Amino acid sequence: MLDLLEKKPVILLLLSALVIMIGTAVTMIAPFTWINDPSLKIAGVKPYTPLQLEGRDIYVREGCNNCHTQTVRPLVADVARYAPGSTDGYSKVGEFVYDQPHLWGSRRTGPDLARIGGKYPDAWHYKHMADPQSMVPKSNMPGYAFMRQPLDSSLTERKMKALGFPYTPAELEAVKGKTEMDALVAYLQKLGNDIPWRKAAAAAPLVGELKNPYTDNASALNEGKLLVSQNCAQCHGEELKGGIGPALTSLARPEGEIFSTIFKGRGGMPAFGDTLGREKVWKIVTYLGSRTGKK
Ligand code: HEC
Ligand code: HEC
Repeated sequence: MLDLLEKKPVILLLLSALVIMIGTAVTMIAPFTWINDPSLKIAGVKPYTPLQLEGRDIYVREGCNNCHTQTVRPLVADVARYAPGSTDGYSKVGEFVYDQPHLWGSRRTGPDLARIGGKYPDAWHYKHMADPQSMVPKSNMPGYAFMRQPLDSSLTERKMKALGFPYTPAELEAVKGKTEMDALVAYLQKLGNDIPWRKAAAAAPLVGELKNPYTDNASALNEGKLLVSQNCAQCHGEELKGGIGPALTSLARPEGEIFSTIFKGRGGMPAFGDTLGREKVWKIVTYLGSRTGKK
């Protein structure tokens, strides 16, 4: 049979073209039929506002996508890191319906940003963008302090029209007088923030018993102190007297609640559960307790 084919070059050519076309259809054309399926849209995901869109353009202009991806892959480690509190929180097509062009990227010199929205307060971003090392000492991200310059808003309306995004005159007016940094931070805070399951995951209570295994354990206290200076001081201050986040020197809540806040994060306070793990979070709670309760 193969012998026969080799002796008939025209038929061989036609058959191999057919095989390649089937491959093309499966990998390229087939996805088009389901990628535009309206049921894959995510209701909470909204188009960009004028300010967010300008921020997105600055992100593209500066090539942030050369160091940052914007897609959470369906791998256990990716989901644990970028979609805390969920098991299937990887990126879905519906998250990108307003992204033209998409900014998935292919390099992760820095972390993925698909879900950066809401992870930190605005104030953290302003400091981090201007001088990354002030927030993350070992960061090799370049500083962008020059973005405090005024934003060029002369084309904003035309951009919104070209993309067909809805906008109000008030939103357009609000862009005037903003800095490039304002726009970029508005964009970052939008990323992934409107996916409904994120709110559900944040509101769900932690499973398992919330009992501190380390009460008054001296080595846990020391480790807790170190963990706090490494992970919390940038926002709560070196002495925990407050900064971007509130003071932690007079926490009067039950330990279980404090554990839960640190584990799951909440409104501008990042989640530490999936990166530090239960034991370390309890050590932190133990240290915080020693700072507040007894003294
Ligand atoms: C040379 C590579 C590089 C470039 C370019 C770069 N970054 Fe980063 N970025 C990093 C690294 C590394 C980190 C992790 C350390 C840190 O938080 O500073 C990071 C962290 C971040 C974080 C915090 C992520 C998190 O989950 O903690 C944000 C937000 C961010 N970058 C935004 C930007 C934006 C916006 C731009 C473009 C204006 C940009 N980066 C350009 C390397 C880069
Ligand atoms: C990126 C900044 C940031 C970092 C880093 C951070 N926090 Fe927070 N934290 C906040 C903000 C903002 C709030 C206020 C959240 C709110 O109002 O819901 C907060 C709130 C809290 C609260 C609740 C305070 C209260 O009065 O109810 C606790 C406890 C807390 N943080 C502990 C920690 C610990 C422990 C760490 C380190 C493991 C940490 N935080 C790291 C920003 C941060």
